[in-house]
Amino acid sequence: MSMREKSQFTLQLARRPRRLRQNAAIRALCEETSVPIHALIQPVFVKEGDGPDEAIESMPGIVRRNCQSLVEHVKELQTIGLQGIALFPQLSADKKSPNAREALNPKTLVLEAIRAIKSAVPGILVFADIALDPYTTHGHDGLLDAAGDVINDATVELLMEMAVLHAEAGVDFVAPSDMMDGRVGAIRMALDDAGYAQTGILAYAAKFASAYYGPFRDAVGSAQAAGTHALDKRGYQLTPGNRREALLECLLDQEEGADILMVKPAGPYLDIIRDVRETVDLPLAAYQVSGEYAQIQAAAKMGWLDLKKVRDESLIAIRRAGADMILTYFAEAIAREKQS
Ligand code: PBG
Repeated sequence: MSMREKSQFTLQLARRPRRLRQNAAIRALCEETSVPIHALIQPVFVKEGDGPDEAIESMPGIVRRNCQSLVEHVKELQTIGLQGIALFPQLSADKKSPNAREALNPKTLVLEAIRAIKSAVPGILVFADIALDPYTTHGHDGLLDAAGDVINDATVELLMEMAVLHAEAGVDFVAPSDMMDGRVGAIRMALDDAGYAQTGILAYAAKFASAYYGPFRDAVGSAQAAGTHALDKRGYQLTPGNRREALLECLLDQEEGADILMVKPAGPYLDIIRDVRETVDLPLAAYQVSGEYAQIQAAAKMGWLDLKKVRDESLIAIRRAGADMILTYFAEAIAREKQS
């Protein structure tokens, strides 16, 4: 018998880490990170009118729905175990203006959608973006000055009013996604003054100027309004290489009264999620954005990656980095699979 067939050789090892990987039961016992369904928040898109659902080409499986269809969908999301949605409106071109007038219409689409959802599915948590981009013809998150720069304080003044309208409509959390200075504190004050001390703020605290938002800009029509996906938001969103500045933004939003902080995008910014987790004790959200979703979908469609495995690994990584909750376009599909 050759040495190769039956070796007597045994390494004298005090530690054999593979012992804990030898079968699925042991691996499950020793798993350090998981992705519970209750940690996932599904972003959804609402459109005007009563037409059929519309596919968003760069986001396979995600559609824009009219208000009624959205309410039915949200009921369904609740039955499969999801407890939160992030709501985004797509407005027709005639509702958009340079000064985002429609954002202060008490009957604007997103407010009607919040009211409809809250009356039909009261148990679901509704998060809604507070930013002007769905309402501006130029697609920016704020008002522009003559030079084309976003004006900080006048934009914040509008966001305060917008937040109060959302609270009145019954939103659970307003989610300022505009990256103006001082907006979290100003919104907190406006909500409290208007009697909405219980309405929460999920702050897009570290939101980077990312090219991964492209498909989303198709979904809400800001790319179409602006004539490009490549809207330059570097005057207000964070510079992708800046870790220290991201932390500063998070600390400011904490001081100003944010209830939950968010890092966005998620997958390419795992180090930022970890930094924030280690420095701040508030609950932490991460947004796996449209481009992260589109990348995985596209590679899977080509047959180059396994959709479910890569999807699950991408979410594990975000949780491992330190996120408590994840906004992801995969939430519904994952919740459905857990059901069956
Ligand atoms: C706009 C907003 C954006 C996203 C959420 N809110 C895009 C942007 O800042 O241009 C991106 C979400 C995604 O890509 O999935 N305030």
